[in-house]
Order: sequence, then C-alpha cells, then structure tokens
Amino acid sequence: MSLFKKSVKTQTKSMIKPIIVSGVQPTGNLHVGNYLGAVKNWVELQNSGKYEMYIFIADLHSLTSEMKAADRRHQILKTAAELLACGIDPKKTTFFIQSDITSHTDLAWIFNCVTPITELERMTQYKDKATHQAKNINAGLFTYPVLQAADILLYHGNVVPVGQDQIQHVELTRDVTRWFNNKYGDYFEEPKALLTNVPKVMSLLEPEKKMSKSYGQGHVLDLADEPEIIEKKLRAAVTATTGGVKAMGVANLLMLLKHFGKEETYKKFVTAEKDGSIRYGDLKADLAKSISEYFANFRKRRNELLNEGFDNLIDIMATGKEKAKPVAAKTMEQVRKLVGIR
Ligand code: ADP
Ligand code: TRP
Repeated sequence: MSLFKKSVKTQTKSMIKPIIVSGVQPTGNLHVGNYLGAVKNWVELQNSGKYEMYIFIADLHSLTSEMKAADRRHQILKTAAELLACGIDPKKTTFFIQSDITSHTDLAWIFNCVTPITELERMTQYKDKATHQAKNINAGLFTYPVLQAADILLYHGNVVPVGQDQIQHVELTRDVTRWFNNKYGDYFEEPKALLTNVPKVMSLLEPEKKMSKSYGQGHVLDLADEPEIIEKKLRAAVTATTGGVKAMGVANLLMLLKHFGKEETYKKFVTAEKDGSIRYGDLKADLAKSISEYFANFRKRRNELLNEGFDNLIDIMATGKEKAKPVAAKTMEQVRKLVGIR
C-alpha cells in the first residue's frame, strides 16, 4: 500500500512542469535586443513543451515612464501583436495583460511591506532611469522591482527568462521570497533567472551601451523595421576603434550576423576581421539583408494581426486573463491567510 502511494506521488511530481514567468513593457516596438535577450528564448521554451508558461504585457510597469494614455492603450495591443507574430502561442502559453489581474498590485503591496528601502536604493536600473527621467522620479519607479517580484511569485515562477539588465531584479525577487518566508512561513520558492547566450545586445550608435529604445530610434533595430530602414540604420552604425580597444560596434554587428545570417557569411567576415581585410560597408549590407529576411515573416504576420483590427487581439488577451485569474486568486487567498488579513 505504502509502495503504491509512493509511486503515485513520484509520478505526480515528475509530471509537474517548472513554471516560467516573464514580461515585457509596452513602451515601443520590440527590437533585436529584446528578441535575442528574451523573446526568442520564450518561444523556444514554450515550444519545448517542458514548461508551464506565463508571459504578460507589463503595462503597470510602463506607468512609471511618461506616455500618453491613448498611446499606451494602443501600444499594449501592438506589443501583444508583436509577441504573437514572434511565435507566442496563446494555446501553449498563458498570455495576458498584467493590469487585467489586479492581484499583481495586491501582492506588490504586501511585498512592499517586507522590503527594506535600502535594498531598492541599490537597484542600478532605478538609478539609470532616475537620471534619464530626472523630472519624473516617481515612487513607482522606486518600487518597480517589488511589483516585478509580485509578477513572478503570484504564479510561483521557478524560471525567469530575461536579458542581462533584469538579473538584479530577479535577485531581488529571490530576496523578497526570503524576507516574506522568514516573516510569514515557508511559502514561496526562490526563482532563478535564465539568460540566453546573447544577454546583452549593444546600441548601434553607442556600442558601449545596451541597445534600448529609450536612447532613440537610431540606436535600435526594431523587428518591424522595413528593409530600407534596417539598411539606413546599419549604415550609420558605429564601427570605429576607440582608444585602441577592439571596436565594440564591430563585435556587436558580427554577433548579429552570427544569429541572423548564414554561417558561411558570418565566418567570411570573422576571417576578414582577423586579417584586416574587412570592409564595414559590406558587413553592414550583408547584415541588413540577413535581418530583413529573418524577420520577413514576422513583419507579414504583425501587419496581418494589426490590420485585422484590435478586436481579435482583445479577445486573445481576454482568454489569457481567464487562464491567469484563478491561479493568481489562489496565491492571494493563501497569502492573505499567511499574513493575517483574512
Ligand atoms: P528596453 O530596455 O528596450 O526598454 P525592455 O525593458 O522592455 O526593453 O526589455 C524586455 C526584455 O528584453 C527584458 O527581458 C530585457 O532584459 C531584454 N532586453 C532589453 N534590451 C536588451 C538588450 N539590449 N540585450 C538583451 N536583452 C535585452
Ligand atoms: N522589468 C522587465 C523589463 O523592463 C519587465 C518585467 C516586469 C518582467 N515584470 C516582470 C520581466 C517579471 C520578468 C518577470 O524588461
């Protein structure tokens, strides 16, 4: 009898899939940094069938930066369309809009009350953003990583696939787990960040910085960029060597070619780079062609989704909401009991 029980237990455990949680802010078009650092990985993890996936549009996080309400409304659905066009499949992934599930902010408040402010003061992204938007250093910007911890732990996330810049936030989520558990009992498990082999794509114009839409259009290659725009942006990309250091710009372009181009083309340019015969104009032209071709289907699918109108996207996101809601509600019910507000 006990043996039977044990085998049932083992079988159940082996059938439980690790839970993946990740999100992206609806602050602009997806770019190749987002793609190689996170989104491509999400699609591969989803299609492996080995995980239970939660992917969401972090619209509450986007409130920490300036954007007109009408633009935000539009941008949320545009980001949804872009993720679908990249291969996020709502049948395989619980794909939803963060603010549709009000438990995110409920749990964030509880986490705010176990998080020392000194730990938030250490967050490099807060410091960067505070410099960048000096006229709008709001409290949300400061407690942003606490909301992120709530996003992850609400669904008991085990694995958080993100780019390099988010590692510190996932580390803070691990800390929040411990602060909460020490106070209220062992409830949450510490999640782990998962990086791709390209955790940091660099800017085209200032290759010592990460590629980010907040620096401006010339710095990023959007997945939706038409071939002539890709060509134009790459023509302006910095390849100069500074202070005798091997140009980071060139390394970045070669890295992009490695991921989006044919292997022999990549090898040809790596050899030419080594023996000094490389012509950056040729590298940029071949890279532009490779990226344009790689994302041709993406552009087609994205345009189809956007041309269908927003109703279809609203329906897809509503289905995700219904899938996420009971999971979030269950966690909140248990957390309320643990902290003594129920
Ligand atoms: P941005 O920095 O352009 O505003 P987000 O903050 O919306 O982009 O990032 C969404 C996801 O893409 C996160 O997991 C983030 O770590 C990843 N990411 C963003 N920029 C890069 C980059 N340049 N290289 C690699 N990953 C990135
Ligand atoms: N902060 C992340 C970014 O800017 C987005 C995000 C919000 C996120 N909540 C999350 C990522 C939870 C992973 C898990 O890219």
